[in-house]
Amino acid sequence: MASAKRIGILTAGGDSPGLNAAIRGIGKAAIDQYGMDVIGFRDGFRGLAEDRFVPLDSKLSGILTVGGTILGTSRDKPHKMLVDGEVVDMTGAVVRTYEKHRLDAIVCLGGDGTAKNALRLVQAGLNVITLPKTIDNDLVLTDATFGFATALDVATEAIDRLHSTAHSHHRIIVVELMGNKAGWLTLGAGIAGGADVILIPEIPYNVQSIADAIGRRVARGSTFSIVAVAEGAMETEAAAAYRAADARKRSASTPEEKQAAVADLTTVEAAHAGNTLRLAGQLEELTGLESRVTILGYVQRGGTPSAADRLLATRLGSAGADLINEGVFGVMVAARGDGTEPVPLDQVAGRRKPVPPDHSWVQAARHVETCFGD
Ligand code: F6P
Repeated sequence: MASAKRIGILTAGGDSPGLNAAIRGIGKAAIDQYGMDVIGFRDGFRGLAEDRFVPLDSKLSGILTVGGTILGTSRDKPHKMLVDGEVVDMTGAVVRTYEKHRLDAIVCLGGDGTAKNALRLVQAGLNVITLPKTIDNDLVLTDATFGFATALDVATEAIDRLHSTAHSHHRIIVVELMGNKAGWLTLGAGIAGGADVILIPEIPYNVQSIADAIGRRVARGSTFSIVAVAEGAMETEAAAAYRAADARKRSASTPEEKQAAVADLTTVEAAHAGNTLRLAGQLEELTGLESRVTILGYVQRGGTPSAADRLLATRLGSAGADLINEGVFGVMVAARGDGTEPVPLDQVAGRRKPVPPDHSWVQAARHVETCFGD
């Protein structure tokens, strides 16, 4: 009788709704279906490197509906971890933890950064799979990431509620949404919440174009406007400078070239700080309408996961246990329609899924007269 497989689970990167549902999904499937032993590692890859763990078999009940992650998370990377003020490659420590616990696999719940770290551990000889987690919905080769559906609901309800003050005070309400460098969350919530203007990183904007669109609304008697702006959205000039510096960074052939490009990126990103407040001021000046700003921030990542995210997280977790039982490793468990698909990590790591400017959601929004600032 082969001894029961032993798996470790960790959550890494930004927290998101559905993480505990996913821990429960993979944990219960591994234990109940395959008799595996399951332990959780604290605070992402750092807990793995430091061997901080908790047996999970008695911790899986009652967490389906709980926000955040019972394991804690971090953005620490195994190969570049801050230890006593020094940046250290802790891959060896991770391998020792894996061997000490006689693990057969590690399951990493995370986004694109986690996929990169997981791939490095595969290259170090460990059995690793990942589940796609992020409210940004910017992971390639998966139809969905858990966390996105809940954030979409939260952000949409926020936009619904912001309409009250907008029409009561005849104001422009500029609401900033998360999404990192991708516009999916802003695009989806902007459409669902009926925003009049949607600004996303993938479609650089011109402030005058936005002001003109708001002016046309006023001329038609709508004396308020909702502007949904993604945290990564930029004006045309700044976007061009950012893309040029990012291209130089990716194509750098020497450390000096990469350093110069990173410095340029940092300059553009520093200039971008406070962009939403600046935009509101510019629109007030150009339209004559009072403008106010709301930054949704971490509200979009908090609280109980939606039914859709609980369902997705459970499906992905259960499929992950099946793959481990079959000995399939080095993959992300991708959502594919009603099913799942193992996708090699080297096709996921380091890649992001931006909104295509001609995406059907963009077209639908344009058809209902939403302005994209272009
Ligand atoms: O990736 C998820 C996310 O919430 C992004 O939308 C956001 O830009 C980022 O994390 C914030 O990072 P942190 O949690 O480190 O502040």
